[in-house]
Amino acid sequence: MADNNATLTADGKDYQLPIIKGTLGRPVIDIAALQDSGFWSYDPGFKVTAPVESKITFIDGGKGELLYRGYPIDQLANSAEYLEVAYALVHGELPNAEQKADFYEKVRKHAGVHDQLRKFFEGFRRDAHPMAIMVGVVGALSAFYHEGLDVSEELHREITAIRLIAKMPTLAAMSYKYSQGEPFMYPRNDFNYAENFLYMMFATPADVDYKVDPVISKAMDKIFTLHADHEQNASTSTVRLAGSTGANPYACIAAGIAALWGPSHGGANEAVLEMLDEIGTVENVPEFMEKVKSREVKLMGFGHRVYKNFDPRAQVMKETCDEVLSALGINDPKLELAMALEKIALEDPFFIERNLYPNVDFYSGIILKAIGIPTSMFTVIFSLARTSGWISHWLEMHSAPFKIGRPRQLYTGETHRDFVKIEDRK
Ligand code: SDX
Repeated sequence: MADNNATLTADGKDYQLPIIKGTLGRPVIDIAALQDSGFWSYDPGFKVTAPVESKITFIDGGKGELLYRGYPIDQLANSAEYLEVAYALVHGELPNAEQKADFYEKVRKHAGVHDQLRKFFEGFRRDAHPMAIMVGVVGALSAFYHEGLDVSEELHREITAIRLIAKMPTLAAMSYKYSQGEPFMYPRNDFNYAENFLYMMFATPADVDYKVDPVISKAMDKIFTLHADHEQNASTSTVRLAGSTGANPYACIAAGIAALWGPSHGGANEAVLEMLDEIGTVENVPEFMEKVKSREVKLMGFGHRVYKNFDPRAQVMKETCDEVLSALGINDPKLELAMALEKIALEDPFFIERNLYPNVDFYSGIILKAIGIPTSMFTVIFSLARTSGWISHWLEMHSAPFKIGRPRQLYTGETHRDFVKIEDRK
């Protein structure tokens, strides 16, 4: 609903651009009128562009506030299970007891994968990065669920969401087991979502009475919740853009996994551990910080496009980190090093002037390492958790008419060239 207008004057002509207010956050300026102006808007990196309207997640970067469907992230992470949060992202609010039981049963029923899918894993080298495997096998689900999949049917869309949320832990654990040369494990009915993931990751067929440490499974579930959604981030925007072409939803999620892999995005948690390994000891921190300030390297796990204050997820992650390390009796020198880095960065003008604070990835890597998750699996876990967010945005897009995303450009290439035969080219 337009409340008033912004006036743009270009080439001597005034354009009245409607200002539209949401329920929270910055109003937007609808620039559709530029269509007839002879201009395009220009915003590399989409720093000031809102390509969609959404009701799913709200972030206030200045306040360090994150809401999923209006619920504050710290309350969800500390008081709800991940699957309840996934239900809220998909359906709009937390489930009641009956809705929860029904959703959990559907997820349990769809947690297995077609046995033929195992053959996709065999095409990869054993040392393939598990994210490369995930991009492949999740995209391959579109080969199993394509015929008869009619995304214009709400029920088809809903079962797709359930299948993806249900199967990601199974596929993620399979990508790890394959790299270890160990047999795949399948989900058990007596384990919850996080317990099943840890079971499929670390149990073997010989572990007939495998037990999951409740401290670890609760931390895992919390990590899933903290990574579940985050507004129009790079990978979610990728899912939406792929979805806007009408592409198969499993292929859209595979595109999101590919985008998340980058070290500037979901790959940062893996990069944080690599950075801590490179620094080695607290004594080396000042020298490393000089490399950061001279822009030779970035301080991985710090900074954020939206949060110019603390990342609320990092606060919860830090508390979880302390809980897990003390419960497991681990005195991880990496955590001490991380704390030293954080202290120095939070007091250093270089970081303060640039609003660089620890983000969600800074602590998640340390917890995952403490749980025994290999570094190469960190972003896989991020993609597992983010699937509920990705598919919620895909569902939201399909819940109303939409157009294919087709940005324009500022062209600065050659203006005109005559064709020259190969023999005449210099
Ligand atoms: C995630 O978008 C999301 O919501 C993502 C995410 C999600 O849940 O989906 O939150 C998950 O991706 C978290 C971010 C994980 N990435 C990292 O931790 C990698 C390290 N961080 C940076 O690469 C960077 O901070 C970004 C990419 C996260 C944000 O970059 P921006 O917003 O484009 O900021 P910028 O590059 O314009 O930087 C502004 C200034 C620059 O300094 P100047 O050159 O202007 O002097 O800050 C500097 C940058 O050089 N800077 C850093 C830095 N991040 C920014 N300097 C050192 N270390 C860093 N980490």
